[in-house]
Amino acid sequence: MRNILVTGGAGFIGSNFINYILDKRDDYNIVNLDKLTYAGNLENLIPSERKKNYHFIKGDITNFELVHYIFEKYKIKYVIHFAAESHVDRSILGSEIFYRTNVMGTNVLLEVARKFEVERFLQISTDEVYGSLGSEGLFTEKTPLSPNSPYSSSKAAADVMVMSFYHTYGMPVLITRCSNNYGPYQFPEKLIPLMIINSINNKKLPVYGDGLYVRDWIYVIDHNKAVELVFEKGKVGEVYNIGASNEMPNIKIIKLILSYMKKSEELIQYVKDRPGHDRRYAIDSSKIKNELGWTPSYTFENAITDTIDWYLKNESWWKRIISGEYQKYYEMQYITR
Ligand code: NAD
Ligand code: TYD
Repeated sequence: MRNILVTGGAGFIGSNFINYILDKRDDYNIVNLDKLTYAGNLENLIPSERKKNYHFIKGDITNFELVHYIFEKYKIKYVIHFAAESHVDRSILGSEIFYRTNVMGTNVLLEVARKFEVERFLQISTDEVYGSLGSEGLFTEKTPLSPNSPYSSSKAAADVMVMSFYHTYGMPVLITRCSNNYGPYQFPEKLIPLMIINSINNKKLPVYGDGLYVRDWIYVIDHNKAVELVFEKGKVGEVYNIGASNEMPNIKIIKLILSYMKKSEELIQYVKDRPGHDRRYAIDSSKIKNELGWTPSYTFENAITDTIDWYLKNESWWKRIISGEYQKYYEMQYITR
């Protein structure tokens, strides 16, 4: 049995990871430490909550005493670190919590993990640390870090800090950098769930700028299979990019959602652009493919319609979310846009 601390396991990717991995393996004993911010939701973990090898602790990764207590109590030897403030638009409204959680929180985890001599520390990062591309080229693991938003700069700071623990203390760290995810349980502030839910509600679909910004989309399960592989077989001190080679301009996805849902394109509303908006992300995943044998198994065409169907079937999940704090956020972000 391996005792693994998973941080941020009540969020979108972390909860999908826990449900996926506990369904498959009984040699992982998972302790999920999550602060349950607006983005954390224990409902996501219903498939796992009764398992004997799953434990939940509500708490903040910046709390050194708590993190220390968890390592001691559960004899933690492995860390998979998903917890973060994760939304670019929120980081533009206010950056402080992004640096506190994403930078200082990661520092606390590293310091405690060093003390307890962990055998693997996997930092879940993002391709956004590389900055923005023009119309050509792909991000490789050697692309210099050049983050543009408070969110991506906080993730880049965490990444270099993680690597410094490898170089200075020989800590067995690994980093994954994934492109934009979509799938079940994604909080509806992000492009795809926001557009699906607004379409269901016949609300306007706010497209930033000219709508021709490009993201490289991956289904969350394909991301999590790559996380599992890097955790199991990755070489310490290495970075692995993860992406499904599925670049798409935002407007194309929005039209595809509308078409699948048989809604009118009149719902589309071009709005004021995001400040500092990165034009294009596209990721080269040849390293993880060649060295670890990973390959995505979902096509965008199938996984996007499965995702739309999931939101159609799980209205109660997102209705509870959009009735609360989200309403205030939505007004702040979009009403004057
Ligand atoms: P999310 O916002 O859905 O979930 C984040 C989770 O972290 C929530 O459950 C929240 O409660 C928890 N959390 C936040 N602050 C915390 C703190 N101080 N202490 C403990 N828990 C805290 O995010 P996500 O989309 O699931 O992203 C997970 C990770 O993957 C992040 O590190 C993000 O940078 C990275 N990532 C995300 C994407 C994407 O497309 N969503 C792509 C690449 C990488
Ligand atoms: P988002 O899901 O916030 O991910 P990220 O900014 O981390 O890539 O946004 C994806 C793209 O969609 C990005 O180019 C911004 C754009 N976007 C809109 O056009 N309208 C919206 O309401 C949102 C949330 C995003």
